[in-house]
Amino acid sequence: MADTKRTATLTLDGKTYELPVLSPTVGPDVIDIRKLYGQADVFTYDPGFTSTAACESAITYIDGDKGELLYRGYPIDQLAEKSHYLEVCYLLLNGELPTRQQMEDFEYRITRHTMLHEQIQYFFRGFRRDAHPMATMVGVVGALSSFYHDSLDINDPWQREVASMRLIAKLPTIAAWAYKYSIGQPFVYPRNELSYAENFLHMCFSVPAEPYHVEPALAKAMDRIFTLHADHEQNASTSTVRLAGSSGANPFACIAAGIACLWGPAHGGANQACLEMLREIGSVDRIPEFIARAKDKNDPFRLMGFGHRVYKNFDPRAKVMKESADEVLELLGIHNNPTLQVAKELERIALHDEYFVSKKLYPNVDFYSGIILEAMGFPTSMFTPIFALSRTVGWISQWKEMIGDPTGKIGRPRQLYTGATFRDYVDVDAR
Ligand code: CMC
Repeated sequence: MADTKRTATLTLDGKTYELPVLSPTVGPDVIDIRKLYGQADVFTYDPGFTSTAACESAITYIDGDKGELLYRGYPIDQLAEKSHYLEVCYLLLNGELPTRQQMEDFEYRITRHTMLHEQIQYFFRGFRRDAHPMATMVGVVGALSSFYHDSLDINDPWQREVASMRLIAKLPTIAAWAYKYSIGQPFVYPRNELSYAENFLHMCFSVPAEPYHVEPALAKAMDRIFTLHADHEQNASTSTVRLAGSSGANPFACIAAGIACLWGPAHGGANQACLEMLREIGSVDRIPEFIARAKDKNDPFRLMGFGHRVYKNFDPRAKVMKESADEVLELLGIHNNPTLQVAKELERIALHDEYFVSKKLYPNVDFYSGIILEAMGFPTSMFTPIFALSRTVGWISQWKEMIGDPTGKIGRPRQLYTGATFRDYVDVDAR
């Protein structure tokens, strides 16, 4: 962050205040208002943080107008094509692409942490079988802090490192077991000779009664889904992780908080909501009815899988995801699936409709990911858990960056208070 030597001037009640302007390496400058309250006795008001940078970060950059997403400077489409998820994890965590040796060491370490403490099985068994896998994940990930006491000290860099490895390694096992539990099948243990994506598919779809072969093209598509969701700068769940972590909470608790936030339909829950919406629409001739509802100001309905707080252009992840969807459907010989037909027509109409065009509402990553995941055999309830396991590395990278920031403070927003002013308590008989 560079001081531009420029200042913004605020005039209030005849007094002027000079506010420093800071420059990022790329993107809009920011006005530093840290001293504003002390000097002028005013707060700024920005619900939803639409204009506020809450932290300094060197991990991920989004240019919403261009539709560009960079992890540590590398564009997402290049990473999706040439890299693989664990290499992307290394990049996000460490800032640079690994050498061959660094990659081998990292893979070895992640692979050796994929098993769960055996006692965690009993923890799973406490949930109802029909629990949403996200509910199970929030609980189990939070509970990791009761199992791994040797990686809770956030002031010890080694413990932070071990907690990071554990979370990245164990999330696929937890997500797969949440699924297995919900369908009444036995838990499948991880297998170290498989890649990260293959292992996840193996833990979700294999059963003890027969051998299971992981189709390489599906593993590749799975890996790409993980990569595309790995980080997305200061979104709601990442900000939740940072806020939870700013109080000094342990990393397992912070990631559980992130999972809880991700669950909402405006965020990670949109992939499930989108597929359910496509099914509800059911056939191409019903699309106009739903488009009309999405435009109606008096109807809370929104087209799931469209729009984004930051992207005002095609979501670059959606472009890659669309290609992947075509490949997977071709591989599985799915051509005339009604959900797919509705999705394609909806996309075509929305991209040309004045309402969506003028508001720059493009299909987002969740519009296509659900189609791929459904084709792979996942129920809709597993879509958001898959997003959560992919995003864990982003949350952890951002959490580590925050802990290492010497200017860090507990997150404590201010408010514009509109409630009652001081009044004396009234005895119950006098009310
Ligand atoms: N369908 C219909 N209208 C929409 C939609 C939509 N999906 N999204 C936004 N709008 C309209 C909205 O009604 C508003 O209209 P007006 O200006 O007339 O009041 C305008 O577009 C701006 O919307 P906003 O709610 O102010 O925008 P936001 O930045 O607060 O919301 C969003 C972003 C993603 C929450 C929203 O677009 C949405 O609810 N989309 C559907 C859910 C979804 O697909 N979420 C996944 C996001 S990508 C994955 C992730 O990162 O989590």
